[in-house]
Amino acid sequence: MQLREADWRDLAMMAALEREIFPDDAWSEATMWAELAMRPRRAYLVADDGVGGSSLVGYAGLDLAGDVADVMTVAVDPRARGRGLGAALLAGLHGLARDAGSRAVMLEVRADNEPAVGLYGAHGYEVLRTRRGYYGDPAGGPARDALIMRKELDENG
Ligand SMILES: CC(C)(COP(=O)(O)OP(=O)(O)OC[C@H]1O[C@@H](n2cnc3c(N)ncnc32)[C@H](O)[C@@H]1OP(=O)(O)O)[C@@H](O)C(=O)NCCC(=O)NCCS
Repeated sequence: MQLREADWRDLAMMAALEREIFPDDAWSEATMWAELAMRPRRAYLVADDGVGGSSLVGYAGLDLAGDVADVMTVAVDPRARGRGLGAALLAGLHGLARDAGSRAVMLEVRADNEPAVGLYGAHGYEVLRTRRGYYGDPAGGPARDALIMRKELDENG
């Protein structure tokens, strides 16, 4: 598996994965083009299995917003989970943030997203605060809480 910076040739596969992983609120391919167009303020990495040319199994993005960077997204193909790809993508983002001079990274995640909260917790993120009822349910179900998490960057992690 290779971790590399995303380019426009990856966008169709990223958008297809996005629709599968986030069926209710997927970013469109046009939104992803706009994200890449914001480089170097934004940085996107893809995990490429390289089987039969290029085969994306995950992607992650960062907003390099000065001394505190924001994780925009981390997503791994459901068929490739539990193999360390999410951790590798996150570590890649941390390296990019550090190289850009950030001293911390922040993100927002649904409190009931156990795999993601587990991933972030295992990589040094701490909960700064909870935003109660932040994620409304279009189907009328109960709203879900968001966790705002933050990790200090140092030379090790
Ligand atoms: C969150 C996600 C990226 C994790 O990807 P992954 O490649 O399966 O994660 P990894 O294999 O690298 O796991 C790394 C660590 O994350 C945590 N983790 C991963 N899956 C977990 C789960 N189902 N429950 C709890 N913790 C989990 C563990 O700490 C794990 O370390 P360990 O394997 O040593 O126990 C993946 O589940 C995903 O794409 N989810 C849907 C998209 C999403 O919700 N993204 C976050 C939006 S904020």
